[in-house]
Amino acid sequence: MRLEGRIALVTGGASGIGAATCRRLAGEGARVAVTDMNASGAGEVAAEVNGMPYEMDVRDGPGIAAAVKAVEDELGPIDILVNNAGYDEFGFFVNTDEAMWDRVLGVNLRGVIAVTHAILPGMQERRRGRIVNVASEAGRVGSSGSGIYSAAKAGVIGFTKAVAREAARYGVTCNAVAPGPIETPLLMAAPEALGDVGQKLVDVMVGSTVLRRLGQPDEVAAAITFLASDDASFVTGQALGVSGGLAMI
Ligand SMILES: NC(=O)c1ccc[n+]([C@@H]2O[C@H](COP(=O)([O-])OP(=O)(O)OC[C@H]3O[C@@H](n4cnc5c(N)ncnc54)[C@H](O)[C@@H]3O)[C@@H](O)[C@H]2O)c1
Repeated sequence: MRLEGRIALVTGGASGIGAATCRRLAGEGARVAVTDMNASGAGEVAAEVNGMPYEMDVRDGPGIAAAVKAVEDELGPIDILVNNAGYDEFGFFVNTDEAMWDRVLGVNLRGVIAVTHAILPGMQERRRGRIVNVASEAGRVGSSGSGIYSAAKAGVIGFTKAVAREAARYGVTCNAVAPGPIETPLLMAAPEALGDVGQKLVDVMVGSTVLRRLGQPDEVAAAITFLASDDASFVTGQALGVSGGLAMI
């Protein structure tokens, strides 16, 4: 029970890695605010983990402010923020357009920035906090068919390091995880979007892991929970690969 008494807010908590993270954090004693643009999915996960659901779209500034206020009024000050919400539109870069760049950067990069901007000042005031951003190995090695997503995730890693430097003096740590291919609806959308080519992209990713398999959401949730706990008290500004050895950086 490493997180007894802590309040955690998870974005994109209704599915995949986010839902697994809500389960892990709650299992360690945290009270979890399960946030997602998918309100009913957030409700189901919250009911399962004895947490509270909040409808929150990470692209919506006023909506973020309202949700953060509701969480702090109902549960208390936020000790742990997991910026997990993300998505991709698979396709080769030459086939993308500006609207698509804005959509993918808007959720995966700007969303992380916006939610952090709403929550970090309170953490700094209270002189404690843990931020864990869900980046991707795509941000370090690049992922074919995911150019804009790779750019966003590289941005998340840079942002993580800058926040770690600025927030350290206030007792707040900021780290990232960089998952490899994880068996969630997000990754499984690649074959749906691109057919055989999409399936080949997934196969290549799996083949790039030295463990030669897909990861499971709970394996990423375990690393996030470590970074959110006091066990990681001397760890900040890191991007921890949870990728079966896909990249060794
Ligand atoms: N699955 C993988 O292979 C993989 C690999 C590396 C990184 N990641 C990252 O892990 C994180 C979780 O992805 P997942 O694989 O569990 O996907 P998922 O599709 O299972 O879950 C993503 C969740 O985010 C929510 N979401 C999407 N856009 C949102 C928005 N604008 N506001 C609020 N919520 C939003 C969705 O409703 C969904 O519940 C993402 O940041 C993703 O980029 C996934």
